[in-house]
Amino acid sequence: MKKNSKRGNGKTSARNIVRIRPGAKSIVLGVTGSIAAYKSAELTSLLVKQGHEVFVVMTQDATEFITPLTLQTLSKNPVMTSFYDEKENWRPGHIELADRANLLVIAPATAHCIAELAHGLAGHPLAAIALATRAQILIAPAMNGKMWEHPATRENVEKLKARGAEFIGPEKGMLACGYEGIGRLWKMDDIAFRAEFLLARQDNLIA
Ligand SMILES: Cc1cc2nc3c(=O)[nH]c(=O)nc-3n(C[C@H](O)[C@H](O)[C@H](O)COP(=O)(O)O)c2cc1C
Repeated sequence: MKKNSKRGNGKTSARNIVRIRPGAKSIVLGVTGSIAAYKSAELTSLLVKQGHEVFVVMTQDATEFITPLTLQTLSKNPVMTSFYDEKENWRPGHIELADRANLLVIAPATAHCIAELAHGLAGHPLAAIALATRAQILIAPAMNGKMWEHPATRENVEKLKARGAEFIGPEKGMLACGYEGIGRLWKMDDIAFRAEFLLARQDNLIA
């Protein structure tokens, strides 16, 4: 990973510790229908460069913002967008991915997707994988600040945190909807770094 500098005081930072690589893992990357979905291309590349197998699962709305072809090419794996893509195996592909995942990252995560996850809905492959997997879930939200601050979203986020999901972001900044405030998708290299940290922690490589 590129962020590995030693601090000026000679102490080892958390970023150095995370360079203890967990080895190749399977990461399912969920992409939902946010204007920030195009950034998932960079995240896919970073996770692949970190040595992992990346399986992208997109909601139908996400395909309005970035093509499955882009993410298929960058991840070097087929991209799942529908339950009915899954024709090759007797075993449903979404269950296979749920079992195979060492980590489920959802970036960007819309308000809608967060609500679905909080309520245990399973109407599309990404939501079904989130329900079926026992892997850690890392969620990077992106949305309008008023949507993020709405009590419904706050409750949904708290529910997911209580079940062990981890959130990264959102951050403050200029939003695509024209407002300035909280709601921007967190930086891709930090999300990739956090994914690496969570994988290393599973292997007890770091405390
Ligand atoms: C141009 C545009 C940008 C959008 N950006 C966001 C966003 O950043 N976050 C969000 O929660 N919803 C956003 N939406 C609304 C979602 O696309 C919508 O809620 C959709 O149902 C989400 O579906 P999904 O969660 O299944 O992907 C946007 C819609 C449009 C048309």
